[in-house]
Amino acid sequence: MDEVADVHSAEQQLIKALPKMAKAAQSEELRTAFETHLEETLAQVNRLKEAMESIGEPLKSKKCKAMEGLLAEGKEMMEEHKGEPTIDAVLIAAAQKVEHYEIASYGTLIAWAKQLGHDDAAELLTETLDEEKAADEKLTGIAENTANTEAEEG
Ligand SMILES: [Fe+2]
Ligand SMILES: [Fe+2]
Repeated sequence: MDEVADVHSAEQQLIKALPKMAKAAQSEELRTAFETHLEETLAQVNRLKEAMESIGEPLKSKKCKAMEGLLAEGKEMMEEHKGEPTIDAVLIAAAQKVEHYEIASYGTLIAWAKQLGHDDAAELLTETLDEEKAADEKLTGIAENTANTEAEEG
């Protein structure tokens, strides 16, 4: 339950950060990727609620210090590279750290849900895990196809 409360807080923090990251992005493609993931993240919070309902527990939130740290670092990087050709590469770096943290968290939650026989919750959380992995891969694609080259040329 503590781990669910942690990831719930992580998602809530990300909901506040993603619009700022979208605004800072230079390429349309990256901006759209952040906006799309914001929509997904909102749905992921609902999915967490559904998962908790399926096992008869309330959805709580406990400040995720790891996400707080990742976003603080991301903000710092964003400010240092604001408006520069490196900005998209830097935004992707920060965002991928966040996605990998979420992938680790959901991987653990799914394993624990299965262990405890909460199959419905495990299934719901797997949908979210798949979205996190897809978001991460999309960011890798943008970095390799455009953002890293732009950063180097700039
Ligand atoms: Fe998420
Ligand atoms: Fe995510």
